[in-house]
Amino acid sequence: MTDSSKTATLTIDGTSYDLPLLSPTAGPNVIDIRKLYADAGVFTYDPGYTSTASCDSTITFIDGAKGELLHRGYPIDQLAEKSHYLEVCYLLLYGNLPTASDLEEFEATITRHTMIHEQMHNFFRGFRRDAHPMATMVGVVGAMSAFYHDSTDISDPRQREIASHRMIAKMPTIAAMAYKYSIGQPFVYPRNDLDYASNFLHMCFAVPAEQYEVDPILSRAMDRIFILHADHEQNASTSTVRLASSSGANPFACIAAGIACLWGPAHGGANQACLEMLKEIGSVERIPEFIARAKDKDDPFRLMGFGHRVYKNFDPRAKVMKQSADEVLDLLGIENNPVLQVAKELEKQALEDPYFADKKLFPNVDFYSGIILEAMGFPTSMFTPIFALSRTVGWISQWKEQLSDPAHKIGRPRQLYLGETARNYIDVEDR
Ligand code: CMC
Repeated sequence: MTDSSKTATLTIDGTSYDLPLLSPTAGPNVIDIRKLYADAGVFTYDPGYTSTASCDSTITFIDGAKGELLHRGYPIDQLAEKSHYLEVCYLLLYGNLPTASDLEEFEATITRHTMIHEQMHNFFRGFRRDAHPMATMVGVVGAMSAFYHDSTDISDPRQREIASHRMIAKMPTIAAMAYKYSIGQPFVYPRNDLDYASNFLHMCFAVPAEQYEVDPILSRAMDRIFILHADHEQNASTSTVRLASSSGANPFACIAAGIACLWGPAHGGANQACLEMLKEIGSVERIPEFIARAKDKDDPFRLMGFGHRVYKNFDPRAKVMKQSADEVLDLLGIENNPVLQVAKELEKQALEDPYFADKKLFPNVDFYSGIILEAMGFPTSMFTPIFALSRTVGWISQWKEQLSDPAHKIGRPRQLYLGETARNYIDVEDR
């Protein structure tokens, strides 16, 4: 990784410091500043980590300029077209595509862990019915550490493995239960004869009173949504998981922290916010008004589902999602869906607008996903939980990678302190 022939030189007050340059397999070189404070007595300043690599990783690579996303080297569009979610899970977790027998064994393992401890049902009942399913998920996933004691010892690789499988297997069950609870319907137990996506749809939409057949085309679309959200480098929630884990916290607590971070509208909450925005726009005639608001510096409004920290070109996931939106609506016989029409016209007008072109703002994964999920029958409040269940494998893979690195350290950023310097305490009667 280190290219010792190259260094970067930093000069402070006439003294020069040579900093090693690390060469990645793809992406820009990285200046190694680990010894900077010890050698030069200075910190670096980078709020939001816009120029800082927080770790090394072999899992996912994004080329933001090209609009390319690779998982273990495989392009996301190829995975979305040819693979399926559990195979992508295996790839992310273990680094290579599985052989047929590896895949069979992995699928059997995940399938065997889909049920949650029966006593955990009581946790759901403690929440208000109108709780956001993300709130319920944060609580219930965190509470898994109170039930699965045999997989919380992070120093034991076997326990780490079991925790990984448990979370991938149980997250759809937990998300579906959070949904069922919120609409006052009975929980539907997992069905292990169904594939991962079909099982999730069944747990969400079946009721004991009726037979529910999962449409294979919807199941395929669901699976594709899972694939498109599976991992995305060191994004905010993944970095949260890594930071939580750096202290030695148990895996369930770390993933609960990731879910909490994902919830925000700048991250996973954008899919809900985007559909709500498209509905608020309502008709193509109102698009210019909203574009003007998004460009107005004095208006906090942003086009949800637009822009990305890393992509300065089309988010490759958005391309697949747009195509999927057309397919799903077609299948469901939904013609001239007004929200899809607004979305397409909004995309067109924004892309033609110099403000978005100059700032390289393109549709991201969340722009079209909500349209598909709503057409499938999900309420907006379930969009982010679906993102969370899909991203679980990414969080887990990055967590495993971090723990298997013998050099990993507790995450502890520095700061640029701008507060008061030391001053003496003043008794209350003297203030
Ligand atoms: N609408 C209008 N202007 C925007 C938008 C937008 N959606 N996104 C960025 N800008 C402007 C922003 O005002 C800024 O302008 P200026 O340079 O004049 O101050 C410039 O573009 C750069 O924006 P930034 O906020 O500095 O960029 P960032 O990398 O910190 O933020 C982002 C990235 C995704 C948070 C942001 O683009 C955004 O808020 N988008 C809307 C929310 C969204 O769709 N989030 C989902 C991201 S993809 C899924 C995921 O990761 O969870």
